[in-house]
Amino acid sequence: MAQRMDTEASCRSSDPGRLLTCGNETLDGVTMTSEATTSLRIGPYPVDPAVVLAPMAGITNLAFRKLCREFGSPTSIYVCEMITARAVVERNEKTLDMMSFDADESPRSMQLYGVDPATLGEAVRIIVGEGMADHIDMNFGCPVPKVTRLGGGAALPYKRELFRQIVRAMVRAAEPAGVPVTVKFRIGIDDEHLTYLDAGRIAEAEGAQAVALHARTAAQRYSGQADWTAIARLKEAVTTIPVLGNGDIFSAADAVRMMDETGCDGVVVGRGCLGRPWLFAEIQAALRGQPLPEAPDLGRVGEVLYRHGALLAELLGEDKAMRDLRKHMAWYLMGFPVGAELRRAFATVSHLTELEDLVGQLDPTAPFPRDAEGPRGRQGSPGKVALPHGWLDDPEDPAVPHGADVMHSGG
Ligand SMILES: Cc1cc2nc3c(=O)[nH]c(=O)nc-3n(C[C@H](O)[C@H](O)[C@H](O)COP(=O)(O)O)c2cc1C
Repeated sequence: MAQRMDTEASCRSSDPGRLLTCGNETLDGVTMTSEATTSLRIGPYPVDPAVVLAPMAGITNLAFRKLCREFGSPTSIYVCEMITARAVVERNEKTLDMMSFDADESPRSMQLYGVDPATLGEAVRIIVGEGMADHIDMNFGCPVPKVTRLGGGAALPYKRELFRQIVRAMVRAAEPAGVPVTVKFRIGIDDEHLTYLDAGRIAEAEGAQAVALHARTAAQRYSGQADWTAIARLKEAVTTIPVLGNGDIFSAADAVRMMDETGCDGVVVGRGCLGRPWLFAEIQAALRGQPLPEAPDLGRVGEVLYRHGALLAELLGEDKAMRDLRKHMAWYLMGFPVGAELRRAFATVSHLTELEDLVGQLDPTAPFPRDAEGPRGRQGSPGKVALPHGWLDDPEDPAVPHGADVMHSGG
């Protein structure tokens, strides 16, 4: 039952002759097993190991998902960038492009954003009717002021009845095609307005096939620490469908620890894999009780970075690909001894051949830096959540917030 591994490094070795076995064995008095990870199902899909790549707007496009799948298991879940339901209904061309999946991606996992049950139901009908996805997740976690100010994202679950109607509409529209709907939300708006237990129970009652909790309030945004005890409480409240935990998994040990401490059925990994898609291989090994692969040296990181660029170029064309890749550079190179000038050159790269040349200038033997194992990606600071006027007056008011359907960006 106990699943713990105090230091990731204690399980890591490159030399098979001196591999430290982790599975069901004691390492420095610490035991780790993998039994809880194989039983997760989301609708018809077994998810093994029980790991989900978090939807991240501007990040989890086809190329990044493919890269993560190359390291992780094909039977884990890799969620696409958030798609706006209204844009689906209006058949916005750019949005339809974002809804692309690799030929061997299964299940094809799509996240939707919206506020209107009718629009979301219609979007789901289109998606499943045209066979565009195999799993639909719903975003109720976005804390961005331009979204919450209109009642969308993390603001919405406060309106219990509207939330219920949305989940119901989506589940009903997806049911005929056997496509599972899952729901992702935060703890609440702020410490005074917690919504996650109601959201979990409502989603369960309305036929969602799993819920995922990012264990922060919207007011926290990405700051501070995720409160994993809330994941444990949600797991107690939601008993008939899987509960996935999310927030601050930056290492394989974190994933194991979250499952152990909260009893959650699976983990959702976001920022930890930015510039570090091999985290999926590490988490997979840890959850299966296998030795962790060796952390990559800078030579290997350069290869992965180039592979990311090449996959993006296939998807977007070289010009757009290089512009997209630039935001990943600091994450890939984090903590490595790379001079300022070379870093700058990476950050302004514009051709694949140039990228290849820059990768060739890295010191391939530089080991993975210890201080790059911790938090990465956006953190920001907490702040008051912008809400529509009178939003908190009546949690049962099912009125659809005006104008929130137009948003196109996630978070
Ligand atoms: C760049 C970025 C974009 C994000 N976009 C979305 C999104 O579109 N939909 C969503 O539900 N969450 C989004 N998130 C939140 C993540 O899915 C996840 O819940 C959050 O980062 C916490 O997990 P982590 O600590 O593993 O990063 C985004 C996060 C980041 C950093």
